[in-house]
Amino acid sequence: MLLHGTDALKQAASAGQALAGFVAYNLETVQGITAAAEATGRPVLIQAGASPFKHAGRHALMRLAWDAADRSTARLGVHLDHSRDLDEITACLEAGYTSVMVDGSHLPFAANIALTRETVRRARDHGAWVEAELGALPGDEDVSTDAIAQSAAMTDPAQAAEFAAATGVDALAVSVGNVHGFTKDPVRLDLDRLAAIHQVVPVPLVLHGASGLPVAQLHGALARGVAKVNVNAELRRAYLEAVRDHLPRALPGSDVVSLWSAGRDAVTAAAVEVISRLSPPVQ
Ligand code: 13P
Repeated sequence: MLLHGTDALKQAASAGQALAGFVAYNLETVQGITAAAEATGRPVLIQAGASPFKHAGRHALMRLAWDAADRSTARLGVHLDHSRDLDEITACLEAGYTSVMVDGSHLPFAANIALTRETVRRARDHGAWVEAELGALPGDEDVSTDAIAQSAAMTDPAQAAEFAAATGVDALAVSVGNVHGFTKDPVRLDLDRLAAIHQVVPVPLVLHGASGLPVAQLHGALARGVAKVNVNAELRRAYLEAVRDHLPRALPGSDVVSLWSAGRDAVTAAAVEVISRLSPPVQ
């Protein structure tokens, strides 16, 4: 069923847990993520952004994700990931997306506020909630580059407070040492900065780039206001490894169905494992 509104996000925040936001590229990744939500009974967000849309076609992937979420017994939000484009955001809102992420992190502060405010205005008309980003992350959203964490674009706590107040945004993605994709060396988050942001920003925080993040770091973030965690590269890798391993068995009979199923099942297993990390045991 479609997960509307921010209640699940707020409940996760108050329980020191987080909702998983998983990126989907095709039918099998949508199915794999849906099956993980059903298996765990946890609310999950199926996400797609500009590059999955480029691969699958925006309309096709939007409908695929929305339909899977609507038909499932699990609570599934359908979320637009990283969009800089008001037309794309509006198309997703009109298609029934339950939330959107407007990414104005590349813009000057005032322009990021203006873009985010306009997104919030449009989202309210459709009953959807909005995630925005302040500060920028190193790395690539679709291809793991072994990026190195940089400190230059980290989120400033005072600016974050001003941004949240000025935009009315529902969730804020932050840059605190997190990196898109896998990294050569383990990531160390700036947890003091995260705590300072949490203290002055009244909405749940979002951690992008959580693939490969050491579990202690992740749990440190959950204890400091992070209530949504994005994971993509781990699912991509699981999918590709399963397809690679299964290919010799599929090739003789040109059995694409068994190949795609192997990829889908690997996505489910990886997503279930990520979800289990997002509810740390009570101390
Ligand atoms: P990873 O690139 O670390 O998987 O993070 C995904 C993400 O943040 C999508 O927005």
